[in-house]
Amino acid sequence: MGNKQDVKLAPSILSADLGHLGEQINQVVEAGADYIHIDIMDGHFVPNITFGPLLVEAIRPITTLPLDVHLMVEDPDKFIPEFARVGGDILTVHVEACKHIHRTIQLIKDFGCRAGVALNPGTPLDSVSGIISDVDLILLMTVNPGFPSQKFIGSVLNKIKTLRTILDEHELSADLEVDGGINSNTTQSVVTAGARVLVSGSAVFNNQLSVSESMERLLQSIRED
Ligand code: DX5
Ligand code: ZN
Repeated sequence: MGNKQDVKLAPSILSADLGHLGEQINQVVEAGADYIHIDIMDGHFVPNITFGPLLVEAIRPITTLPLDVHLMVEDPDKFIPEFARVGGDILTVHVEACKHIHRTIQLIKDFGCRAGVALNPGTPLDSVSGIISDVDLILLMTVNPGFPSQKFIGSVLNKIKTLRTILDEHELSADLEVDGGINSNTTQSVVTAGARVLVSGSAVFNNQLSVSESMERLLQSIRED
């Protein structure tokens, strides 16, 4: 099992109260968030539309935490310069959406950002074997992207384990991030499998608990053996 102290939390604002977004971000920062995860959806790559660069620009002055921009868009090369300009720190593209993934990763780096690559649950690790040493983050989706509050897909655990082994064997320090259905019932299994950055939307922003209580519950679930 990995070192639990090394596990980072990346709350996804997709489930936040957008009428009070600044306050909600301050609350997760206060409660120990490591990254702010921002889901960009274009209505083509995924069947939903969310935010654009304007929102990233609006969030930028609120926190010094890294802004973890998850681009669920077709042809992301078109948008990378703008998301870099408005202050995205980590730009993650889907391998399924890129014709030339190596070129896209280099483009993100050329704009001074950390480069991430995301894989849908049905996409094999082989699809990124050629660029694994070039990326700063690999995001394994644990739901099919597009919506919050979906059920965690347990079969991705084997992919997480395999990727953890590959990263460790090659002494690669890329973040291994998971996204979708992460809550206090699933943190243990993904951390044990080797994930080190946990994205969580509806388990952080919900009507049951305050943001600080929700964050504490997640952190507690990671600490428990
Ligand atoms: C889903 C998004 C996620 C979403 C996760 O396509 O990429 O970041 O916010 O939501 P939860 O944590 O509710 O599954
Ligand atoms: Zn996401």
